[in-house]
Amino acid sequence: MLDNPVMIASGTFGYGIEYSELIDIQKLGAIVCKGTTLMPRKGNSQPRLVETESGLLNSVGLENIGVDAVVKDKAPVWANWRVPVIVNIAGETIGEYISVAAKLGDTPGVSGIELNISCPNISTGGIEFGVTPKLAAEATAAVKAATNLPVIVKLSPNVTDIREIAVAVEGAGVDAIALINTLKGMAIDIKKGKPRLGNTTGGLSGPAIKPVALYMVYEVAKVVHIPVIGCGGVRCAEDALEFIMAGASAVQVGTANLANPHVALDVLEGIKHFMRDRGIRKLTDLIGIARA
Ligand code: SIN
Repeated sequence: MLDNPVMIASGTFGYGIEYSELIDIQKLGAIVCKGTTLMPRKGNSQPRLVETESGLLNSVGLENIGVDAVVKDKAPVWANWRVPVIVNIAGETIGEYISVAAKLGDTPGVSGIELNISCPNISTGGIEFGVTPKLAAEATAAVKAATNLPVIVKLSPNVTDIREIAVAVEGAGVDAIALINTLKGMAIDIKKGKPRLGNTTGGLSGPAIKPVALYMVYEVAKVVHIPVIGCGGVRCAEDALEFIMAGASAVQVGTANLANPHVALDVLEGIKHFMRDRGIRKLTDLIGIARA
């Protein structure tokens, strides 16, 4: 249970430590840290970021310091924070996901796990586990069995019917569902006649994907009974309120953090203002009200 519904999306806030010098991070609902794997990863070749008209393409490839360094160097800092930190975990095999989850299990400072079965930027694993209900449920059940921490699954929009995947992971015992991760995309440099990203393709985030994310949250919230967390292009309180009215219990602010470190706190203040203005006392009075 979070103090408030505004979370930070993985991969847009590092481990929160640098941002703690810029904003009052303790006011956030939760921080989801960078995708973490069993071993450190160097990530994909550069360039890894391309700005498009209304969104950002990334092909980072899960560059990270590895779970042992997270446990040793980052979690002790988090243990002194009021804001819960959730670790986004990724892997190439189910065994890797299990090992990462097990290593995080008893670590003070780690409040939960976000199971990333939706990264489109690695050649093995990642999104492979998020595109069929069977594999998504297997990965979820394996991680749930490896930890006592609450587990959120982060779903990919790059699927035929996201509702089937959501129902499958709910059946496998997950505690909440976050959606959406990035939409697969690309950009081409016409002067060079080559893809702009070093890895050719990447994942699109930011305002361009908000209508897709909103639609998917709306559909998923109708078919599951666990909390849904909306993610994709949230830049202001109005965006967040749209997700909440579509059925989300919380939102994650992602790409917008890269341009404005204060944006998540602005979103939170805006939601409070909206509720105060209308005499709405509980967020639950807004969740899903736009659903037919
Ligand atoms: C990446 O590291 O490539 C992005 C992470 C993700 O899409 O989950």
